[in-house]
Amino acid sequence: MSTLQLCYFISAILFILGIRSLSSPITARRGMNLASLGMLLAIIGTLFGHQIVSYTWIIAGLLLGTVLSLPISLWIPMTKIPQRIALSHAGGALAACLIGIAEYYRYHTAFSTTSMSIVAIEVTLGALTFTGSLMVAAKLHGLLPGRPITYKGQNIVNISLFILMVGMLIYITLNPTMNLIFYILLSLSFLFGIFLVTPIGAADMPVVIAIFNSYGGLTGAAMGFMLANRIQIITGALDGASGFVLSILMCKAMNRSITNVLFGAFGKIEEEPDKKTSTSSAREPQSISIEDTLQLFEQAKSVIVAPGYGMAASQAHHALREFADKLKASGTNVKYAIHPVAGRMPGHMNVLLAEANVPYTDLFDMDEINPEFPHTDIVLVVGANDVTNPAARTVKSSPIYGMPILDVDKAKQIIVLKRSLNPGFSGVENELYYKSHSWLLFGDAKDSLTKLAYGFKRAWGS
Ligand code: TAP
Repeated sequence: MSTLQLCYFISAILFILGIRSLSSPITARRGMNLASLGMLLAIIGTLFGHQIVSYTWIIAGLLLGTVLSLPISLWIPMTKIPQRIALSHAGGALAACLIGIAEYYRYHTAFSTTSMSIVAIEVTLGALTFTGSLMVAAKLHGLLPGRPITYKGQNIVNISLFILMVGMLIYITLNPTMNLIFYILLSLSFLFGIFLVTPIGAADMPVVIAIFNSYGGLTGAAMGFMLANRIQIITGALDGASGFVLSILMCKAMNRSITNVLFGAFGKIEEEPDKKTSTSSAREPQSISIEDTLQLFEQAKSVIVAPGYGMAASQAHHALREFADKLKASGTNVKYAIHPVAGRMPGHMNVLLAEANVPYTDLFDMDEINPEFPHTDIVLVVGANDVTNPAARTVKSSPIYGMPILDVDKAKQIIVLKRSLNPGFSGVENELYYKSHSWLLFGDAKDSLTKLAYGFKRAWGS
């Protein structure tokens, strides 16, 4: 076995062990380290490859990549990580697509049917993943409306475009020298990425991110076949498969099928989601002060914290842990309820709470914790909105109807930390805020929690 093959073999094992370790928060950090080590070995192995005739372009690429990525990794805050991930998918897919175009440009006259089909798939998937991921990033960043954008006949346009692209892909596979068809297919693929994401939005965005993760992996695997690079095939396949599994898990978490996510909004005319439900329009929510909130917590024997995107946005996780520690020290039972799509990326809440040293044993998945809400004195909702909205259970016309939620409305009392009555990511107003046992503590979550932690100390003298 050559040094190169040995490097690739070890890095493949490290990638597999890395992904395996990511399945639990306890081993996730180790998983990331193993995968990074695998990538380092793969790069070192490749740099010793016999096919390399000059290192000039490799060093230029390395420098350019470092200059571009350093500010991104240093300055992009945790709250913007999903957009950053979407941009990474776009960058990876574009790179694979450009390599496919270069291979076609140089060798297409000598291509076999197999080589041509691989390049055509690589370029098609790469191009649509590139524009699709840019659309996702723009939607998540608020540059484009986050809601589905639909128009009459959208399903016909998209399906026709898809059929046309499949036809052209088959044609170019059989006739590799038809340059024009190749470049038209490339252009249509860029367009299709935009069309694919336009009608998707609201709470379905996590699934789209995972799907493009999968497409990006498959593009990389196709590139690996084209370049006869084994480690590229392995990493592409792992990425493609794990992205697909993640898409399925996300769909399950939202009680949707993948076809429903991708095509569910087709044909619907864009409409404003139910901003007001019948219950909410009639009443004002009850707001509460820090002092009154403290009094409620003084009586509570059991508290469940339901964190959401607002906790990430205000970086309130450390203040939350401090307050929870004080509650625990005074004998209150504190648990954390983790919804699978709370926040803006898979595992968002777990990562933040782990950073604040909240013990893993205090975190409970939605299915585990839901039966406990009816016996809980207070649910403290920290910047969570969609994942607590009872409309998901009852309002059929709601864009989040059918999404499993944390049953916080079943608790004895609910304290919600948020700044206003603005809706969450899906744009749907939350009926929870108008319940008689629900109180809103308006303000930035970190500020409120810091005051609560401080006030609780005073109230108990501890
Ligand atoms: P959201 O429904 O987006 O609600 C977040 C809430 O945080 C808002 O109501 C906002 O209200 C509040 N907030 C924002 N900044 C705050 C601050 N500084 N202090 C206090 N509160 C603040 O969040 P969620 O309940 O976690 O639900 C997640 C949503 O995102 C779902 O719809 C999900 O499908 C979607 N999504 C998830 C992912 C993944 S993979 N997790 C990826 C993309 C999208 P105010 O503005 O009034 O403060």
